Amino acid sequence: MLPRATKLIKIQLLILFLLAGCARLKQCAYEGFTRDQWQQRDRVIESLQIRPGDRVADIGSGGGYFVFALAKAVGPDGKVYAVDIDTEMNDLVAQQAKKEGVGNVEVILAKPDDPLLPSPGFDLIFTSNTYHHIDNRVNYLTNLRKYLRPNGRIAIIEFDRRGWLDGLWQHYTPSEFIKREMEQAGYRLQSEFDFLDRQSFLIFAPNQPAQGPTTAPSN
Ligand SMILES: C[S@@+](CC[C@H](N)C(=O)[O-])C[C@H]1O[C@@H](n2cnc3c(N)ncnc32)[C@H](O)[C@@H]1O
Repeated sequence: MLPRATKLIKIQLLILFLLAGCARLKQCAYEGFTRDQWQQRDRVIESLQIRPGDRVADIGSGGGYFVFALAKAVGPDGKVYAVDIDTEMNDLVAQQAKKEGVGNVEVILAKPDDPLLPSPGFDLIFTSNTYHHIDNRVNYLTNLRKYLRPNGRIAIIEFDRRGWLDGLWQHYTPSEFIKREMEQAGYRLQSEFDFLDRQSFLIFAPNQPAQGPTTAPSN
């Protein structure tokens, strides 16, 4: 348990960050200072079983916490689309990709009700700590199916209220809700991992392939 004073300072800092509207501060608010200690990014990436050449979308990619690890996993023949409704976050990701010479990351400015992926044929749609931000989720998730190739998957990492701030900010979704909504949207649970202390980590596949063209275009 954190002492009460420390908690209050953290809350005040977070409020300041959010009000400041500065992209780097927003990124700090999303990622915190200790995330590497609990997020187990490498183990998450390993669990996703991404293959070289895969096309992956990270919806609500924020400051890119997972984007560059995903880009490494898909390799030079694959592609990662960093999708967000926040231009400032997209700019941060684009700047980092340019600075580090990462050529297989592209940013997409999404609409709140549609990620606006450029084509169908995605191997994986990944989303981390974003699920609770999405409105009309069953509609949104149903719409996502058209972007997946047959055997494509959706991976969802979401706070589930084990973190001390999650309840306060309402920044969480119980995993039972996610499972129910995904089922309503036409997906079945494929894998469930329990190694994250503060988040659920679920992978789903569509019950049936979506109608329409499914061939992946060349990256
Ligand atoms: C808490 S941050 C998570 C960022 C990143 N995925 C991570 O794990 O650090 C949530 C992000 O989702 C974005 N977002 C909110 N609603 C969205 C939507 N409907 N479509 C795409 N992105 C959305 C926000 O702009 C924000 O960057």
